Amino acid sequence: MLRGAGCVFAEDEARLLIEQARTPADLAAMVSQRTAGLPLEHVLGWAQFCGLRVAVEPGVFVPRRRTEFLVRQAVGLARRANDQTDAALVRPVVVDLCCGSGAAGAALAAALGRIELYAVDLDPAAVRCARRNLAAIGAQVYEGDLYHPLPTTLRGRVNVLIANAPYVPTEAIDLMPPEARIHEPRVALDGGGDGLDVLRRVIAAAATWLAPGGHLLIETGQRQAQQATETVTRSGLIPEVSRSEELNATVIIGTKSPARNVPSG
Ligand SMILES: C[S@@+](CC[C@H](N)C(=O)[O-])C[C@H]1O[C@@H](n2cnc3c(N)ncnc32)[C@H](O)[C@@H]1O
Repeated sequence: MLRGAGCVFAEDEARLLIEQARTPADLAAMVSQRTAGLPLEHVLGWAQFCGLRVAVEPGVFVPRRRTEFLVRQAVGLARRANDQTDAALVRPVVVDLCCGSGAAGAALAAALGRIELYAVDLDPAAVRCARRNLAAIGAQVYEGDLYHPLPTTLRGRVNVLIANAPYVPTEAIDLMPPEARIHEPRVALDGGGDGLDVLRRVIAAAATWLAPGGHLLIETGQRQAQQATETVTRSGLIPEVSRSEELNATVIIGTKSPARNVPSG
């Protein structure tokens, strides 16, 4: 039935649905949702991300495998910063803008241990979901536009600022698979004419929130990388492009200069 409905990994999906269903009626309902085109993760109620099971409610963006690359880059940078300081004292301050389900923040916390995590999303359904996923970490999850809801006391204190914001150019949305186009909210996908409208706003204010030596990490399409990198440079951050061919993932990193040591005496 699943194969007939076009599910590419029908056997794997069937196994997951059988495991998840509590009764035969439950299973029948889930199969009918799936064959009607609902993303598997919305039917199951969770997605696999960086080895975690992350709750994903219908109407909330399903975290993608490719975003695991952004998380890996962020973990590497946070660990490097830790190695350069007294690790026992460090509890990195992490901000996840456009957090969706909160998957990236949850994965960072799982990899790094103790972090001080703040997450923001515009969409109330995403915020509800992120609060579920991040409750155990003690993260603060805010509803609102990018930096707007963050406490101003965080300015200049953020060690790692991640944003997997919407970056699909408006005209390309019609070309996306129906699972995304129909079942994920437009606000999660639409990045405006060239796809970079939201990211330009993220980049523009990043330097004021980052701590000296702190890092901004954003995901973009490969073809958007050059333009995004130029925007990062103009914002005063030091840019770097990271690419994973395996995951077809592009991450732009912007680093704030470390504070200069003031010579004593
Ligand atoms: C591509 S999804 C990514 C979600 C999550 N970061 C992930 O990787 O699974 C983008 C998210 O950005 C949110 N969003 C869009 N515009 C926003 C804005 N101006 N401020 C905060 N969140 C926004 C959407 O609601 C959506 O949850």
